[in-house]
Amino acid sequence: MSTGSTVQAAHADVVGEAGRRRTFAVISHPDAGKSTLTEALALHARVISEAGAVHGKAGRRGVTSDWMEMERARGISITSAALQFGYGDAVVNLLDTPGHADFSEDTYRVLSAVDSAVMLLDAAKGLEPQTLKLFDVCRHRGIPVITFINKWDRPGREALELCDELTERIGLQPMPLTWPVGQAGHLRGVLDVRTGQFVEYQPTAGGATAAPDVRLDPAAAAEAVGAEWARACEEAELLQASDGEFDVDRFAAASATPVLFGAAVRNFGVRHLLDLLVELAPQPTPRAGVDGADRPLDAPFSAFVFKVQTGMDPAHRDQIAFARVCSGVFERGMVVTNAVSGKPFATKYAHQVFGQQRSTLDTAFPGDVIGLVNANALRVGDTLHDGKPAVRFPGLPSFAPAHFAVARPVDLGRAKQFRKGVEQLGAEGVVQVLRSDLRGDAAPVFAAVGPMQFEVAAHRMEHEFNSPVRLEHLAYRTVRLLARPDQRTTVDGGTRSEVLTRLDGADLALFLDDMALRLMQRAHPDLELRPLLAEG
Ligand code: G4P
Repeated sequence: MSTGSTVQAAHADVVGEAGRRRTFAVISHPDAGKSTLTEALALHARVISEAGAVHGKAGRRGVTSDWMEMERARGISITSAALQFGYGDAVVNLLDTPGHADFSEDTYRVLSAVDSAVMLLDAAKGLEPQTLKLFDVCRHRGIPVITFINKWDRPGREALELCDELTERIGLQPMPLTWPVGQAGHLRGVLDVRTGQFVEYQPTAGGATAAPDVRLDPAAAAEAVGAEWARACEEAELLQASDGEFDVDRFAAASATPVLFGAAVRNFGVRHLLDLLVELAPQPTPRAGVDGADRPLDAPFSAFVFKVQTGMDPAHRDQIAFARVCSGVFERGMVVTNAVSGKPFATKYAHQVFGQQRSTLDTAFPGDVIGLVNANALRVGDTLHDGKPAVRFPGLPSFAPAHFAVARPVDLGRAKQFRKGVEQLGAEGVVQVLRSDLRGDAAPVFAAVGPMQFEVAAHRMEHEFNSPVRLEHLAYRTVRLLARPDQRTTVDGGTRSEVLTRLDGADLALFLDDMALRLMQRAHPDLELRPLLAEG
């Protein structure tokens, strides 16, 4: 635990501590190299002394458990939601966005807790579906994005073509900060666009050590590399001349993205990325409460819960809530208020369960992520705060579900476990849980953004809650928010529509398809329906 005087000093410098934080997530499609990059970033920060802990598909159980193993082995500070490491004077918080296998809606919600994102692309594939979905969330929230084009050590697409794709498909202006010298697969190095220097490609075998940074001035590069150097300079200039000149304000405004090229598995380009994050990525800024007023960084402690997870410790089926600190200093053991329920929440449980493993959770500052154990009372979107004034941050968005299925317990004798599991999965956002009086409590409807969420939900119902479920898929494809509860009967009266109420109280009007929606609107022009946050 911190001593009294260090805690006082920490309070005094909360704005300075926040200024050192860089809190970001990597958005990518599975296989683009996120785990490899994560490890390489941590390696460059010299937190881990040997590589190999993260990548290696065989026997891998996902980044989450990899990180926990890394923590145990090396004593670095990791929650399953965030990896924290120091780099120079900066403190980097890298939040995990689980990929394919762990997919759930809260993958997207993680992005409400970051100040910037790294969009990781595979040089051979460019923009892929999961990247696009995650990018949409970044756009929606105005999150600045740095683009890292990975796997340049092997054959892929042309650099200019990949940059054009950013402009054409997602309207994001690329601003190259490095440019590859030599085609993908025959990488010689990169042009550092801002200094004009050539950074030589020096693959580090198996990513075992931090890559050296060998640089040549332009004249020496022209001599050493020849035509490929000239071509790289020309291409980079071409892109810069077509509105791609680096401009930090456009990056901060999320209308343009700095682009870097590299090969995470060879530790190439990773140092540059880290330097850039520290130099350019936004630090935590005051967050606005529901009343619209910003909570200053040095106000008393406040945080919001962006993810909850169960079963971290198989011995106690326990819920852990991950919260991002927005203001003030968190000290383990403090009793805070849950602004949503008004109830006190004692953080001493984090102390008991994690013990010395999580020593850095003794104190946390704006931008940091805290993992709160035994947090069964907390929900995604909840605000925690200490002292006055109270604050409540806006809830997190729920995404428009596009898949619906009625869940029924296979074993009717297990109604209690069934109910508990359904509540839990709904609270975690694994699926949205919808109900109506017409269908009754025993037949909740699971709603999902992607069908894979059903698999995760069914698996967890069976293995974690001992209540296997049968899912009966419903044919609804179009969903709107019903603004006026008194119009419920109108929608329920249709043959191809119904209203279901979500756990957060929102009434969702479900329609078989867009045609059914249009017919309903034509028949009832006064019907007040609103779009939900679209997700893909
Ligand atoms: P993910 O977390 O985004 O799913 O990707 P991951 O890091 O697991 O990387 C997916 C595959 O891509 C891995 O190969 C990894 O080694 C490889 N990879 C990552 N970065 C680079 C790079 O810069 N260049 C090249 N050539 N490959 C890269 P794998 O065969 O699936 O696993 P492994 O046996 O190599 O670990």
